[in-house]
Amino acid sequence: MNAQLKPRTQSDETLRYQVGFGQEFASEALPGALPEGRNSPQRCPYGLYAEQISGSAFTAPRHGNRRSWMYRIRPGSMHGPFEPLPHEAFHNRFGETPVSPDQLRWDPLPLPAEARDFVDGLYTMAGAGTARAQSGLGIHLYAANRDMHGRFFANADAEMLVVPQQGRLRIATELGVLQVEPQEIAVIPRGLRFRVELPDGQARGYLCENFGAALRLPELGPIGSNGLANPRDFRTPEAAYEDVEGEFHLIQKLDGALWRASIGHSPLDVVAWHGSHAPYAYDLRRFNTIGSISFDHPDPSIFTVLTSPSDSAGWANIDFVIFPPRILVMQDTFRPPWFHRNVASEFMGLVHGAYDAKQGGFVPGGASLHNCMSGHGPDASTFEKASAADTGKPDFITDTMAFMFESRWLLCPSAQALQAGHRQGDYQQCWQGLKKHFDPSKP
Ligand SMILES: [Fe+2]
Repeated sequence: MNAQLKPRTQSDETLRYQVGFGQEFASEALPGALPEGRNSPQRCPYGLYAEQISGSAFTAPRHGNRRSWMYRIRPGSMHGPFEPLPHEAFHNRFGETPVSPDQLRWDPLPLPAEARDFVDGLYTMAGAGTARAQSGLGIHLYAANRDMHGRFFANADAEMLVVPQQGRLRIATELGVLQVEPQEIAVIPRGLRFRVELPDGQARGYLCENFGAALRLPELGPIGSNGLANPRDFRTPEAAYEDVEGEFHLIQKLDGALWRASIGHSPLDVVAWHGSHAPYAYDLRRFNTIGSISFDHPDPSIFTVLTSPSDSAGWANIDFVIFPPRILVMQDTFRPPWFHRNVASEFMGLVHGAYDAKQGGFVPGGASLHNCMSGHGPDASTFEKASAADTGKPDFITDTMAFMFESRWLLCPSAQALQAGHRQGDYQQCWQGLKKHFDPSKP
């Protein structure tokens, strides 16, 4: 077999990507494996099976239609019966008790002392809605220290947005291999099977389950045809497969629970595929950050990387928003994020560096939750410093990468998140030092 005909396997260390967002991709790990001119020929090349995975309604409008055709060694139906797989920390039980208006903040989730893979290491923080209603989201953390050995995972409930904070993730999927590091993100479409490996031995980060419409790029309106996250910076893997038999487990999440079935082969056996229901990665450092060059701030929606729309125009099921390095030049303006209360709910995380609205307490790997109409904003020391700053000079905000999962829905914290040892019980104290400056005699 000459080099040109060498099949591309999952263990190939060279990562190969296609570029673009939400389009029709096509890739084959063996030459000629992709049927030409039709999706389901009577006999597929190399004796492969054809299988379609539909991530949207068959009749969804073209721009939101997601489906892929896979040409695989065995069809996806070949596995044993599923049985419940208990997982105490990872679930979708949201809103069992009324949600307190308290502002909440957490230190990072401790790395595990015992062996945990990506699925074992999931820890539910908050969420809203249900997969049954195809609306809402689940917000989780992960902390893991071992590869998924002989285990494959698929989430039938949700598309998954993974935000690594520590350690790289090598995500081997049915459609090829993605690798992401902190300050990058990965999106795994609903139902796709995959295995997570940890090239750095351990990993920690954030995970957003999207029960609603698939994440897409926001409209740009008057910004024009370029800016924010540019489509060419998204990368989707080239086909790569493994032809491996053994005693493995397929874990599937459905209806908020985990299920496990035995499977006698690796399901990552797709030799060629084409379509739009595909995983992708994006480097957040490529975000073209746009802001005011006169005075005031735009709303933080200007920092939206990806959005999952709901059925009401402009009211997102999820907005994934980042606060990247940027230069603040606004004149006579309070430059940090302002004090505000918001009908939408905001879950924030910090991937790298420091966040410019807080002088301390919000550290990489940490999180905060400001629910519907809960007041928040800069802490006392940030307010004093920014109020006295010289706005004739630019502020260079460097070495930072904060993000927000924002939702129109009330985000219900899990009981374990409220009771967690890493919750900061004194978070509200950061605003108690704000001084009264009011003097009716001095306009
Ligand atoms: Fe906010």
